[in-house]
Amino acid sequence: MTSRTCLSIILAAGEGTRMKSALPKVLHEIAGLPMVAHVARATETAGGGDLALVVGHGADAVRKAAEKFAPRAEIFVQEKRLGTADAVLAARAAIARGYDDILVMFGDTPLIDPAALEAARARLAAGAAVAVLGFRTENPAGYGRLIEKDGRLVAIREDKDCSAEERGITFCNSGLMAIAGRHALELLDAVGNANAKGEFYLTDIVGIASARGLEVVATETGFESALGINNRAELAEAEALWQQRRRRAAMLAGVTLVSPDTVFFSHDTEIGADTVVEPNVWFGPGVRIEPGARIRAFSHIEGASIASGCEVGPFARLRPGTDLRAKAKVGNFCEVKKATVEEGAKVNHLTYIGDARIGAGANIGAGTITCNYDGYSKFFTDIGEGAFIGSNSALVAPVAIGNGAYVASGSVITDSVPDDALAFGRARQKTLPGKARELRSRRAEAAKK
Ligand code: UD1
Ligand code: CA
Repeated sequence: MTSRTCLSIILAAGEGTRMKSALPKVLHEIAGLPMVAHVARATETAGGGDLALVVGHGADAVRKAAEKFAPRAEIFVQEKRLGTADAVLAARAAIARGYDDILVMFGDTPLIDPAALEAARARLAAGAAVAVLGFRTENPAGYGRLIEKDGRLVAIREDKDCSAEERGITFCNSGLMAIAGRHALELLDAVGNANAKGEFYLTDIVGIASARGLEVVATETGFESALGINNRAELAEAEALWQQRRRRAAMLAGVTLVSPDTVFFSHDTEIGADTVVEPNVWFGPGVRIEPGARIRAFSHIEGASIASGCEVGPFARLRPGTDLRAKAKVGNFCEVKKATVEEGAKVNHLTYIGDARIGAGANIGAGTITCNYDGYSKFFTDIGEGAFIGSNSALVAPVAIGNGAYVASGSVITDSVPDDALAFGRARQKTLPGKARELRSRRAEAAKK
């Protein structure tokens, strides 16, 4: 990595009207993380130095989100949407501090490859004044075209300003640009707005720099890396590409995905080798899985920690605060929230466990419910090691079931049960011999009348 200083500027002031959304475009998420946060991460991975975020439309919302994903970022406001060059100049005060490299990125290009950023900066280090990241596509409509002459980049022409011939060019502008810091302000200040949209185009610095005899180059990156999101169809396309990459990375890291296309990861999913993920599984944010677990089909998992040897699902829902210790099992149609299921404990069927601890080796029978909420507050249920909760029991929290205790099926437990005790919380069964026959003949008589 280079020792050159760098300022990364992410443009995030666009309205994104084609998203048809109350949410600013750059806050739309991919893998549960705002697009603009993906871009910030890429700059970080590439050693992009200081971060400046240019906000405009929805500034408050973007600023607030940035506190989470980029707390060190300096925020600049572009008051009026006058074009990408004007947006970069919103960060004039930062640029003027003097950096070797200025990296300009768009907040709506979330799959940008950090290696491409490094490649562009390498060209600056080798003497270029501007390095533009280009990509090739058979369908270039809407993108700025890179106009080259003798191996040099001489201009970027926006789609709307292209001649018929230029429109046929398939080498396009990704939007990302690396600019030598010492030339940045003089080039940006020279940009005018005489074009089809009447905007100050950042892309015009290419023509300006090359007319001044400065070296301007294009480096090539993959189409995905340059994918700009303008509507929700493109958002879904980017999500699909992101998921494809992530699935592949997981498999290459030793995770078995039986049907990769049906497994959805979050931006922060951690999953250990030798874990098997069956088809149709959704990971929300905050999931950590140790090596050698099994996630069975149709499970929905978020905010959960899953230890080695655990088995989850099929059809399980793990909500935030779930902590499954080694070899724990949570089976079909079970929901677990804010609860620890200790080593080897089993919650196998049709159960809700919320705000609870299930001791090691305990067995929770089918249909057990922890009644953790009275409409106002949440209460805790503590179940001891090796306890056995009979099927269809309701444990009304706060309540504790002791180690080795036994709760009879169908109980409603409102008082704590000591270690090794047996608790019944239901009416005793009454059996009346012959009574069924008598009842039947009475009913039959009545029906005749
Ligand atoms: C831009 C490029 C085009 C490139 C394409 C790649 C320019 C002039 N055009 O076109 O060459 O092929 O991206 O996706 O750069 N923004 C602001 N303030 C503004 C205007 C834009 O912050 O005043 C931000 C937007 O939020 C967005 C980015 O700049 O993140 C690009 O703007 P957009 O209007 O989407 O440009 P494109 O027409 O897509
Ligand atoms: Ca765009």
